[in-house]
Amino acid sequence: MAKDQKNGVWKSGRGKGRSHPKGRQLDDTAMAQISALIAFDQMARDMLIENLHILQDAFGHLSAAHLRALSSQMHLSMAEVYEVASFYAHFDVVKEDEAPPPVLTIRVCDSLSCEMAGAQQLMAALKDGLNADEVRVLRAPCMGRCDTAPVLELGHNHIDNATPELVKAAIEIGDIHVHLPDYEDYAAYVADGGYAELKNLRGKGDWEQVQEKILESGLRGLGGAGFPSGTKWGFVRGNTGPRYLAVNGDEGEPGTFKDRYYLERTPHLMLEGMLIAAWAVEAEGCYIYMRDEYPAAIEILKREIKILEDEGVVDIGYIDLRRGAGAYICGEESAMIESIEGKRGMPRHRPPFVAEVGLFGQPTLVHNVETLHWIARVCREGPEVLNATELNGRKGLRSYSVSGRVKNAGVHLLPSGSTITDIITAAGGMMDGHSFMAYQPGGPSSGLLPASMDDIPLDFDTLQPHGSFIGSAAVVILSDQDSARAAALNMLRFFEDESCGQCTPCRVGCEKAVKLMQADHWDQPLLEEICTAMADASICGLGQAAPNAIRLTMKHFSGEVS
Ligand SMILES: Cc1cc2nc3c(=O)[nH]c(=O)nc-3n(C[C@H](O)[C@H](O)[C@H](O)COP(=O)(O)O)c2cc1C
Ligand code: SF4
Ligand code: FES
Repeated sequence: MAKDQKNGVWKSGRGKGRSHPKGRQLDDTAMAQISALIAFDQMARDMLIENLHILQDAFGHLSAAHLRALSSQMHLSMAEVYEVASFYAHFDVVKEDEAPPPVLTIRVCDSLSCEMAGAQQLMAALKDGLNADEVRVLRAPCMGRCDTAPVLELGHNHIDNATPELVKAAIEIGDIHVHLPDYEDYAAYVADGGYAELKNLRGKGDWEQVQEKILESGLRGLGGAGFPSGTKWGFVRGNTGPRYLAVNGDEGEPGTFKDRYYLERTPHLMLEGMLIAAWAVEAEGCYIYMRDEYPAAIEILKREIKILEDEGVVDIGYIDLRRGAGAYICGEESAMIESIEGKRGMPRHRPPFVAEVGLFGQPTLVHNVETLHWIARVCREGPEVLNATELNGRKGLRSYSVSGRVKNAGVHLLPSGSTITDIITAAGGMMDGHSFMAYQPGGPSSGLLPASMDDIPLDFDTLQPHGSFIGSAAVVILSDQDSARAAALNMLRFFEDESCGQCTPCRVGCEKAVKLMQADHWDQPLLEEICTAMADASICGLGQAAPNAIRLTMKHFSGEVS
């Protein structure tokens, strides 16, 4: 160090002194833009993902200058902001020397039902027919519209049964925004007796009586794990507050679209169920985590939550709606909690469970959207609304999301003891020219079963002896014109893309399995070794269940892979 004799300041070396600190500089314009877009009181740590959305929506990408400015205004390190921004598929991080993406993005779903309906050909035709400088075409996982496959999202406009012609027509008229369906709004819901039960309970209700009702109905978690809902309330209440409630609206398991179905029709059943559950566990606040792929549901919830505040049903800010950013793993409850806290969606090690140490370190009740829908209905209509139905020794109802080679794909509400034959019948039978060959009973995590196994009630606990499980009841029907091997590869590609990468058996196992499954003849002993490592040593359900698709294909469709 030498002293500048003229100015009397210390310099870092020979020559001129340093005019600014080392490292990436703060850009005045980016700072001003952020101040204009994001309110000063929105700078808490957990708002990071929401703030990244604001920038992505405004500029179509996240520039290095904006990330640096945001890190300064949120008092976070650049590394923290960058690791979050780069974790989620819906954020486009653009470094100083990179060009931003085109203004318009098309995401083409390539999960199983869409692939069976020609997603790859659709994607190729779009890439050929559109100007890549103006529109970029990306692959994307399931968008929860499998009943209208193939599906794509143009900006925020979802196009069902998509064709290149429909896309070009939509681009020409600038139809790139979300379309809202007709739904039962607050006024209609209240006119039909809605929120009366909540008012009753808040006035003179006994939470243990409500818990008893829920237990009697037999309601189990419809996010896939099937944990008895009433029992979970007891666990959460057993821990000292403050407590929170978090709604899992991530619905990322390919083939599942029941939550979207209910939210886009009767959103207040979910909202009332949530407020009843929140009352039961004395929650200080409710967080609703909705996947970014459901812009219509997000807009509906925004509007209806505002009405609940205006009508005095809830205090302002009691319900906090959060938007995911394109990461399937954020459906796993502890990853969802990390994401609500504004972090990467990496599942936590358990114990402690989220009922004990959840959101912001506090006991948290996590419920799936459909579970809450049924909580409202059980409270209003009694436990019989579920437990009065019995089939094949199983009690209750199940919303099966059905897609693939059936005539009437869609959500079919059927007895929980339904077999695949019942489900295909309810869905109008097989498409003309197709005969039933195989089925995915509950998303890729459940693997594939052959048509010969058509007498199993598709409920919680009934599929485990067969190496599968019902999960979120995402049923995909395959025909003699499909390939079990191609379906299994599609499933593993999905897991490879969506693995959070935090544990080696899952991160490396998915990648190696995808490579091996592309060979004409599968190296079955090696695949089995990988499956064992993944199932035994992965941290969360993604890595633990991904082997189901490999094992069941080797077991039931060996002719296709040997
Ligand atoms: C990899 C993985 C993904 C999951 N995705 C979802 C999801 O998208 N939606 C959901 O409600 N539950 C999902 N779950 C289950 C949740 O972890 C949790 O069990 C559920 O939200 C609890 O609510 P429930 O008891 O009402 O089902 C997932 C679990 C795993 C392991
Ligand atoms: S199993 Fe996969 S998704 Fe789950 S924590 Fe490990 S790497 Fe992440
Ligand atoms: S929307 Fe394409 S598979 Fe679900």
